[in-house]
Amino acid sequence: LLASTQPKLFAGKRMLITAGPTHEAIDPVRSITNHSSGKMGYSIAQTAIAMGADVTLVSGPVSLAHPTGARTIQVTSAAEMLAAVEDNLNGQDIFISVAAVADYRPAQASQHKIKKSTASLTITLEANPDILATVAARTDAPFCVGFAAESENLLQYAEEKRRRKHLPLIAANIASEALGQDDSSLVLLDDAGSHPLPQGPKLTLARGLLLHIARMLDQQQA
Ligand code: CTP
Ligand code: CA
Repeated sequence: LLASTQPKLFAGKRMLITAGPTHEAIDPVRSITNHSSGKMGYSIAQTAIAMGADVTLVSGPVSLAHPTGARTIQVTSAAEMLAAVEDNLNGQDIFISVAAVADYRPAQASQHKIKKSTASLTITLEANPDILATVAARTDAPFCVGFAAESENLLQYAEEKRRRKHLPLIAANIASEALGQDDSSLVLLDDAGSHPLPQGPKLTLARGLLLHIARMLDQQQA
């Protein structure tokens, strides 16, 4: 039904999407992660396929079925996600960075399980690469779309992120209302201003976002 009712606005377009959280190993049985379910990224992938796009999905660990028709590459850490993105960037028209990439990783993952003691434990973290900023800075960058998960000052912080990363478009949401939920809401920010997408299922939001991207690409060509 989905496939037959969507206009094929992305026919002939290649789209790379990241989704889900990343896991940053502390030791063989523990990691640092976040509450991302992958639902938003997978909804975008599924909807983009229905709209005719050739989709490559780079996914962190999630418990969702692979979207039918996408090439899905599973990764665990931010470093692996960056490598998979760079390996698959050639020829992409659009990059949508939906993944909730861990900002930090343990500076050293312990080779063996850390044993407990009553003393406090300090884990030193180091910064992960910013995958989206890395891609957007390339001279051969595709059309880059970011997400901004914020807990306050949504529009200001999201717009600052969009400018800092040199993105034509960013989709902003309140993290606590989006992470893991079936429904969410988004505000799209571009050079023309802000475009709210009302609260609804992530599949509906995905469609709204993709229609907006299609319009922007159309205007670029005109
Ligand atoms: N992102 C990324 N690589 C990272 C961190 C973030 O590609 N290491 C991408 C996300 O996929 C998203 C955008 O950058 O599209 C913004 O992510 P967000 O976590 O909201 O912002 P940060 O730039 O990481 O800043 P902060 O977490 O401090 O708000
Ligand atoms: Ca972050």
